[in-house]
Amino acid sequence: MSFTIVEQCPARLNRSELAVPGSNPKFLEKAAKSDADVVFLDLEDAVAPSDKEQARKNIIQALNDLDWSGKTVSVRINGLDTHYMYRDVVDVVEQAGANLDLIMIPKAGTAADIYAIDMMVTQIEDAKGYDKRIGFEMIIETALGMSNVDEIAAASPRNESLHFGVADYAASTKARTTVIGGPNADYGVLTDADGDGNRDYHWGDMWHYAIARMVVAARANGLRPIDGPFGDFSDPDGYAAQANRSAVLGCEGKWAIHPSQVSQANDLFSPSEEEVTKANRILEAMEQAQKEGKGAVALDGRLIDIASIKQAEVLVKKAEEIASATK
Ligand code: GLV
Ligand code: MG
Repeated sequence: MSFTIVEQCPARLNRSELAVPGSNPKFLEKAAKSDADVVFLDLEDAVAPSDKEQARKNIIQALNDLDWSGKTVSVRINGLDTHYMYRDVVDVVEQAGANLDLIMIPKAGTAADIYAIDMMVTQIEDAKGYDKRIGFEMIIETALGMSNVDEIAAASPRNESLHFGVADYAASTKARTTVIGGPNADYGVLTDADGDGNRDYHWGDMWHYAIARMVVAARANGLRPIDGPFGDFSDPDGYAAQANRSAVLGCEGKWAIHPSQVSQANDLFSPSEEEVTKANRILEAMEQAQKEGKGAVALDGRLIDIASIKQAEVLVKKAEEIASATK
């Protein structure tokens, strides 16, 4: 281990994060009853400019009047390049900050963006005498944000999570795609010919680098990495494939842009019984190995060593967190 200890952000379940447009009070009511671990009430891209003010009022009312118990509630403010942002922060935190857990900062580009919001929120919290501190979740969805991802992750003690905003990221990097998340048939490799001259084409994951890069920045700063939207809500298999590869890379959850994706995310980001059983067997085998003075042993024909203990503990701890939060 390094002599530098990474402080972990407050532990919260974040397997599913449901996006709800603030412009629709009915959707806000439904969201409060959903099974999502986190709900974010949106003032940004799901709300048309002409609806921004009403959406802000709807969200303040929903935070104050609806029962959000059992879940984490967040508000996605507008970007720092818009004039909506300051009122989003001032009105929502002043009028409903006591009922708000997190603020989601879209298109975070530099550490200074986070600093600016931190300053505003701190002043409002102090003025109102709130005792609970609001946390931050940042969307990494621009080339600037990705190139400054480490500094953004470290920018405030309020920071809890980094999110990969695939749609804006594609636009910002001028990627040749118009869908929200998912693979692209033009991103692949053609194999060399086999003995019979046959060649295969394998699709690749064009988002691999971005997600892996964000996961590293998040984990190096004790934050949760979360995968963003998958737009085709009528393709549950496509959603599952994207969620599984993000989980494999270390993400703790994924957005649900439709209520039907919530239970899928909750399942896909919970370690399966089989995985937990295997992790427990690794822990038992390593305990026995250590009693015998060994650093590494074979289990089911594979090498396990001290690093395997840490991997297994991550899984078991996650399963325990889920069990205690959902009982
Ligand atoms: C989310 O905000 C995205 O742009 O994908
Ligand atoms: Mg976006």
